[in-house]
Amino acid sequence: MKRIAIVGLQWGDEGKGKMTDVLAKEADLIVRYQGGDNAGHTVKFESYTYDLHILPSGVIHPHVISILGPGMVINLETLFNEKKPFPDATIKVSNRAHLILPFHKILDAKKEETQHIGTTKKGIGPSYSDKINRQGLRVSSLLNKERFITEANALAALHEIEFDATAYYNQFEKEILALIPHMIDVSKYLDDAIKEHKTVLFEGAQGVMLDIAHGTYPYVTSSSPSVSGIPSQVGMAPWLLQGALGIIKAYSTRVGEGPFPTEIHTELAHQIREVAHEYGVTTGRPRRIGYLDLISLKHAVRVSGITHIAITLLDVMSEMDAIKVCTAYELDGHIIDEVPAHIDDLSRVKPIYDTLPSFKEDISQITNYHDLPEAAKAYVTYIENALQAKIAYVSVGPKREQTIQLENMWEVSRD
Ligand code: IMP
Repeated sequence: MKRIAIVGLQWGDEGKGKMTDVLAKEADLIVRYQGGDNAGHTVKFESYTYDLHILPSGVIHPHVISILGPGMVINLETLFNEKKPFPDATIKVSNRAHLILPFHKILDAKKEETQHIGTTKKGIGPSYSDKINRQGLRVSSLLNKERFITEANALAALHEIEFDATAYYNQFEKEILALIPHMIDVSKYLDDAIKEHKTVLFEGAQGVMLDIAHGTYPYVTSSSPSVSGIPSQVGMAPWLLQGALGIIKAYSTRVGEGPFPTEIHTELAHQIREVAHEYGVTTGRPRRIGYLDLISLKHAVRVSGITHIAITLLDVMSEMDAIKVCTAYELDGHIIDEVPAHIDDLSRVKPIYDTLPSFKEDISQITNYHDLPEAAKAYVTYIENALQAKIAYVSVGPKREQTIQLENMWEVSRD
């Protein structure tokens, strides 16, 4: 395959950054297709740990061209700061991506006072709202200083927030002028790359259960992390995408508010949070911990057309005395196998569990699948059968080397 999507199948934080990094060595281009600096990808390389929020995780590979796609919302300050440790990286930015301006963060915080979604307060929702309301500013506004100042001041006035667009532009003028040659029409750039048989990785942020259309609405982000977001947002025909690697954690986590049917409320949640450092990369908030939820995963696999799966953090399962997997929900006395559309209904479902044998061994140094304990392999096979998608990678630790490859996505034939 030459064009692959990497998509989180839960509520984000599945380890997409690590898997992007694993696949990056054979990628020519890596395109982030949605979201903004609400994302947090931790990538470990040699003795360095990088927390990336806006740049694709492939940026640490000098041969990769990193692209911020048109479906993104971009906070310039984050972008300019995050670029600094990568002077040799080639970073292109869509001229159609929208800007997050400082007042978007104010609006986000204000809305949270009453709405309580538990957003990252990065201004994501308000920037996307302006986009959909046909009043936002795109990256291309930066091409002309006067035009930017007029547009940004007008938008701030519309929101009745004081903002000095001249001061804002002046603060970043040097970096903006340096960025201008790297502002591109992503659709055209990709079209040329595809014709030259380049390999392209589309890197999602967040996860399908946070998708504005298919997630646990309204407790979602304001973009489309699922695969269907890619063609429309980057400007590419859907049939050009050849495969989608869905990333799932061996258990579940969620940050922010919203229903989480398999949430664990015992000491085990605390134990897992500490062992696996389950704290948000962007906000530092403790992540809520739960058992694997096959109902939401089947939903995510279906809406995203997932062809392959990577299971991450399998090593953490050795903390559990019994491996519980949710196989159905009970809602008002009825057994259901789908995610209810209304948040009220979803918050009332009771999970029905299967219990599988656990393994207590440390598997973090295992590099060959066959060397995994039988119970670990049984869990992997159970997931594969339930989701009807091939397991391609199993991750047993945060480092690149702690990845067991069962199939190399790039070598799968699907032309
Ligand atoms: P927003 O994207 O900041 O508007 O937040 C909306 C919801 O998405 C909140 O529940 C956030 O906690 C969640 N969220 C946003 N980005 C991430 C992420 O990268 N990982 C996990 N959750 C996220």
